[in-house]
Amino acid sequence: MPLKKFVVGNWKMHGVAADLEQVTAIAEAAAERPGVDAGLCVPATLIERAVRAAPGFTIGAQDVHHLEKGAHTGDVCAAMLHDAGASLVIVGHSERRDSHRERDEDVRAKAEAALRSGLATIVCVGESLAVRDAGEAVATVSAQVDASLPRSDIAKLSVAYEPIWAIGTGKVASPDDIEEMHAAIRERLVAAYGEAGRHVRILYGGSVKGSNAAEIFAVPDVDGALVGGASLKAADFVPILDAAAAAVEGAPAIA
Ligand code: 13P
Repeated sequence: MPLKKFVVGNWKMHGVAADLEQVTAIAEAAAERPGVDAGLCVPATLIERAVRAAPGFTIGAQDVHHLEKGAHTGDVCAAMLHDAGASLVIVGHSERRDSHRERDEDVRAKAEAALRSGLATIVCVGESLAVRDAGEAVATVSAQVDASLPRSDIAKLSVAYEPIWAIGTGKVASPDDIEEMHAAIRERLVAAYGEAGRHVRILYGGSVKGSNAAEIFAVPDVDGALVGGASLKAADFVPILDAAAAAVEGAPAIA
């Protein structure tokens, strides 16, 4: 049975006060499409204002520290995200794995801290082009999933498959490659969590746009999207919500 689609924007290091009108417009469009779960992960500095600009809409963060508090200059913990009004967080994005040297074990600790606190949590995985060219994509991502998955309550867990070579490049993985990888991730989820692993939503990310979203959402085991560039403006993001709404029309939602 298909899961309700989850479409999340990742604003990365973009967004100041002038962009709040986009948050409001996206939230209003999402409210008109109740068949789809939607959210925006904005910079930490914008969370509280985004929540005020979009009451009732899911606003999230892009990282969280694995500890509850302490001497960690520059870091933000789960309680602070809740305090600011966030209800969602992304962990283990490839940009953080790369520039902040986050390892699978760090990502897992962050996911466990986030889920423990009650934040919906998206764990990101994905291979480099060199790994794909070497024919190691499925093995590499499967190992990443195994080592990054939280050993905690997973009711609010999602996984995002984001091939690094497809992020911000305009290149999208082929439907066959996405299907193969999402099936492999589903297998790892079921191995880790049993039947509950079938209810964890698996999002695709990497150059998702209004023009390619319908094709991506039609792939088996694609339960949503994690969207970078095309989430910054309502005019670009709303067509992706529309594609998700069309994909689930008539399909009973269980998530
Ligand atoms: P783009 O949609 O800009 O390729 O970014 C994808 C991504 O990294 C979302 O987390």
